[in-house]
Amino acid sequence: MPSPVWDRKHLLGLEGLTASDIFELLDMADGFREAAAGRAPRLNLLANRTIANLFFEDSTRTRSSFTMAARRLGADTLELSNVGSSVSKGETIIDSALNIQAMGVDAFIVRSSASGAAAMIARAVRPGVAVINAGDGRHEHPTQGLLDLLTLRQRFGDLRGRTVAIVGDIVSSRVARSALHGLTTCGANVILIGPPPLVPRSFETIAMGPGKVQVRHDLDQVLSDGRLDAIMMLRVQFERQERPETQTVKPPSPQRSGGEASGPSPISSDYRQLYGLNAARAAQLPEHAVVMHPGPMNRGLEIDSDVADDPRRSVILQQVSNGVAARMAVLARLIRE
Ligand code: NCD
Repeated sequence: MPSPVWDRKHLLGLEGLTASDIFELLDMADGFREAAAGRAPRLNLLANRTIANLFFEDSTRTRSSFTMAARRLGADTLELSNVGSSVSKGETIIDSALNIQAMGVDAFIVRSSASGAAAMIARAVRPGVAVINAGDGRHEHPTQGLLDLLTLRQRFGDLRGRTVAIVGDIVSSRVARSALHGLTTCGANVILIGPPPLVPRSFETIAMGPGKVQVRHDLDQVLSDGRLDAIMMLRVQFERQERPETQTVKPPSPQRSGGEASGPSPISSDYRQLYGLNAARAAQLPEHAVVMHPGPMNRGLEIDSDVADDPRRSVILQQVSNGVAARMAVLARLIRE
């Protein structure tokens, strides 16, 4: 039976894909690595095709990576965001998509703060137009999941039996949801770590396996077990916390955002103390283990610079490079059909 998210027309999530669906995309991505890095001439697989980026939420990596991927496959791209488009005048995103579709496009890449936005557009477009979810609210971010899997597969080969910790604001994270569906489908085990309000126990039952999901609240205890192959640090998504007055983790004060300067709010410093990946914690990882982060990083909060920039362990920029190859694979797979 075709999966609801992967009917080979749209990619709305990794939940429901089989391991062979995922490996097919990862193999294609491996084949695109040279072209993705700009080391091989531009391909013409998608010549005369047009891909529209509909980004209704901020993005640096994902948006530019989709644009690069499309262009390196020979397609034309169209960029639309809520700032500077009629969405800021009250037009619905469905109306925006249908109007762009009327000009003739082959695919929509959709990012929105609303979970389900990409699925809604997928239901509205005409047959033959592909919709790819580039992050919808707290739901899924499937191409991020694929680039994470690609990065781990390049390092470890087989993912079966590997253990990956994901640390931080799991409840708000579409990156964590896609990673955990992808990893467990490929046979890796996932340990979700963070304060109880950000990592509810119910996450242990959402993945279909064969890999297992475990929820833990003590990062140091997990590190001392010494069985991690990778650790993925996540940003606390302050913008998705529903009621700021009940936030368990307060945003860093504005004067220090993005830096490691002094003056953190007491709760942020508490978070950093319990869950921040510093050099001392990284030293407890097994020799072969890698450090990942989807970006954007809050340096000095969830991850320290000496860990993020450590060339022996950090694969953070490799994740970004792999993002272009993974997105080329998805575009080529969906649009050529
Ligand atoms: C993430 C996102 O937007 O979901 N970033 C990304 O796409 N690489 C994570 C985040 O915003 O923290």
